[in-house]
Amino acid sequence: MTALGKLFRTTAFKLTLVYLTVFALFAAAVLAYFAWNTRRLITEQITQTVDAEIRALTEEYELGGIRRLTFAIDARGRRPDSYLYLLTTSAGEGLGGNVGSLTAGILERNGWTETAYRRLEDLEQTVHHALVQIVQLPGGFRMLVGRDLEERDRMQSIVITAGQWSLAIVVLLGIAGGVFVMRRVLKRVDAMTATTQTIMHGDLSGRLPVAGTGDELDRLADNLNNMLERIEALMRGLQEVSDNIAHDLKTPLTRLRNRCEEALRTAEDESQYRAALEGTIEESDALIRTFNALLMIARAESGHARDDMSEFDAAEVARGIGELYEPLADDKGLVLKVDAPAAAPVRGNRELVSQALANLVDNAIKYAAPDRTRRAAHPEIVVRAAAGEGDRILLTVSDAGPGIPVADRRRAVERFVRLEQSRSQPGSGLGLSLAQAVAHLHGGELTLEDNRPGLRTTISLPRGGPLPAA
Ligand SMILES: Nc1ncnc2c1ncn2[C@@H]1O[C@H](COP(=O)(O)OP(=O)(O)OP(=O)(O)O)[C@@H](O)[C@H]1O
Ligand SMILES: [Mg+2]
Repeated sequence: MTALGKLFRTTAFKLTLVYLTVFALFAAAVLAYFAWNTRRLITEQITQTVDAEIRALTEEYELGGIRRLTFAIDARGRRPDSYLYLLTTSAGEGLGGNVGSLTAGILERNGWTETAYRRLEDLEQTVHHALVQIVQLPGGFRMLVGRDLEERDRMQSIVITAGQWSLAIVVLLGIAGGVFVMRRVLKRVDAMTATTQTIMHGDLSGRLPVAGTGDELDRLADNLNNMLERIEALMRGLQEVSDNIAHDLKTPLTRLRNRCEEALRTAEDESQYRAALEGTIEESDALIRTFNALLMIARAESGHARDDMSEFDAAEVARGIGELYEPLADDKGLVLKVDAPAAAPVRGNRELVSQALANLVDNAIKYAAPDRTRRAAHPEIVVRAAAGEGDRILLTVSDAGPGIPVADRRRAVERFVRLEQSRSQPGSGLGLSLAQAVAHLHGGELTLEDNRPGLRTTISLPRGGPLPAA
């Protein structure tokens, strides 16, 4: 498309055209009003002066009759101005004045009228126009006083010409301004289009140009840039996750393979094969667990789990998890307590919430066991389900273990991250990631706090409606 063709198709061009038309119409209306008003004013001025002349001449008549009036009219008619005077008898015979000829039949009228005329002393005998008033005097005499309209017509034509010129200038300037503005806008849009092309070709680091004027194009560019920022971060995250997955699954798979190879190479009897196979199964189970955890996180993060929401009692879930993990806690020399006396209605995905809470309890048991912390015997783990601020239900797990240093808390939540001091424990570093994904799925947060001593982890969930009857 040519540059001009592109220009004509822009919204800015169409808008300019509409504004220009509206403005030109408006300007024309103003000019017409102005011209009409000037004409009216001049006409008014003429009628006033003619009225005054008639009054003065009538006075002359009253003072000295027709002779004095004739004399006065002749005297005035000789003045070199644009007034017209004529005095006739009832038969139309001229007695005095400066009018040579008039439009036929004009003298029969009374009052104001416009007429064509020739001046008596005008040798070229050109036709002029005048506004005249005709009055009837006693005795059938007729008196005409008027004034030439040339001045008024000239004034009007000046106004009209000036109006036409200014209208033309307005339109030209409007078009020039419109084209200038549109070219600027088009240039920016073109720059944006060019950047989007490079982004579409895979260079996610590209950003739309922002002119800094704060106009709507800037706002659009800003918003799109923020969106690109977010997409880039997500893509980076995805890249990291797939790198992590590849890396973290490669190790156990290599171990699995080596174990099999070694068994093939060195095992001599059935019992050794059996031991190798049992090890393989154990290793595979761990792998399957990791895959399951990853799938669950993906499910929570994709938002598909939102279709699976229901009303349930989080207090009941807490009690269930407490019962499930109590023997394990006991084995490790821990006391697991559940503090969930009142119903805590939640609207959410029950399976995912249970798994998230189980992960937190599992962590507390794994990392806060007394043989690792060497603190007082029988430290407590408390699982709590209670109403929080606003319309939230909080699921909290507190332990008295070593806790997580503030600097490591953000990192600990990331996928496959296991802190240095917990390497001796089994795990793949996905427990907290799932808890966080579940919290986000429900529009909440996973928070890690200091329990002095130990760690307190909280998942906030939206309060649900009344619970369905059991
Ligand atoms: N209650 C806790 N006390 C001390 N450290 C903790 C606690 N909970 C988690 N951590 C630290 O945070 C890390 C991440 O925990 P996360 O639950 O995500 O993974 P994991 O327990 O190592 O493995 P997984 O839960 O997948 O079996 C842990 O490796 C541990 O270092
Ligand atoms: Mg864990």
